[in-house]
Amino acid sequence: MGMLDGKVALITGAGRGLGKEEAIAMAKEGCQLVLNDIGGAFDGTGTETKVIDKIVEECKQLGTNAVANYESVTDFNKTKAMVDQAISEFGKLDIVVNNAGILRDRMIFNMAESDFDGVIAVHLKGTFNLTRHASAYFREQGKANPKLKNFGRIINTSSDSGLIGNMGQSNYGAAKAGIAAFTVITAQELKKYATVNCVVPSARTRMRTDATPKMAGFMKMKTKAGFDVFNPAHFAPLVVFLASDAARRITGEVFRCIGDKVWVYQGWHPVNRIDNNGEPFTPQVLAERVKSELLKGVQTKADSANIAQELFGS
Ligand SMILES: NC(=O)c1ccc[n+]([C@@H]2O[C@H](COP(=O)([O-])OP(=O)(O)OC[C@H]3O[C@@H](n4cnc5c(N)ncnc54)[C@H](O)[C@@H]3O)[C@@H](O)[C@H]2O)c1
Repeated sequence: MGMLDGKVALITGAGRGLGKEEAIAMAKEGCQLVLNDIGGAFDGTGTETKVIDKIVEECKQLGTNAVANYESVTDFNKTKAMVDQAISEFGKLDIVVNNAGILRDRMIFNMAESDFDGVIAVHLKGTFNLTRHASAYFREQGKANPKLKNFGRIINTSSDSGLIGNMGQSNYGAAKAGIAAFTVITAQELKKYATVNCVVPSARTRMRTDATPKMAGFMKMKTKAGFDVFNPAHFAPLVVFLASDAARRITGEVFRCIGDKVWVYQGWHPVNRIDNNGEPFTPQVLAERVKSELLKGVQTKADSANIAQELFGS
């Protein structure tokens, strides 16, 4: 018996990388699938239908029903059509995985407006588009049948780039931090109808080999015991679990998974305070007290060097 028997999922960007692994892992757990991908280059240019057709065939070979969708997540009306496609093909929709992504890295002083807009459009707007339509459907179903309490699943994809910060990715990081915030808020709004969680990968896909070639060597690293840490297949079980009934009480969370490790993130929260005893601060008082008191002992955030240390002890 599969963990997702009888469920219907829609996964965006399922033609390659992490989305492909998520599709295969869900198919193995008995899920029926609408698999979306434009089949573009890593910067979002171009389209190719056979990219997603191949994964649809692979999933069918695993014994499940799967259909392709070739549209862009940036198009509000076409994401509505994706939800409608799931309902017309399989009679319902239970799970949405917002995974499609592109990269257009530039330092901020060199970034073209189109590089900023293009990345925000796929990641942040794309996540909004599909969530907007799926959540209306989950709510309508939930109201019509109260027994379906909390049945929908929305799984969004963020990145350390947004949660910790990464130079050259102000467009991508802003979108990914926005997706984490969007997750927290929509989880509150959809409490009765669906869970909404966010996942944070780090895996050997073309995003880390072709789009950011300086990461390619790191992505091949194995532990001393020979474990292939960044194999993208290791990430999919977290998504399958969050999509399942077993995760029905987990919502509004952000999880990172790399290899054999899973972390839970906590968002921005105040860690220290100074008080001016009923008087507004002046710039001069702040100049005296911010560094010496407010920022004293406040740790700098984790960065990728900390993660490497944790994974490889070097
Ligand atoms: N690989 C990592 O280490 C890593 C780290 C953090 C976050 N992520 C995120 O994981 C997700 C998957 O990335 P990946 O590494 O598998 O990259 P990938 O390039 O291998 O796959 C992304 C897929 O999304 C598709 N896509 C792009 N724009 C689309 C659009 N407008 N509509 C529909 N499909 C579209 C592409 O054609 C591609 O097949 C992305 O959201 C990415 O930002 C990846």
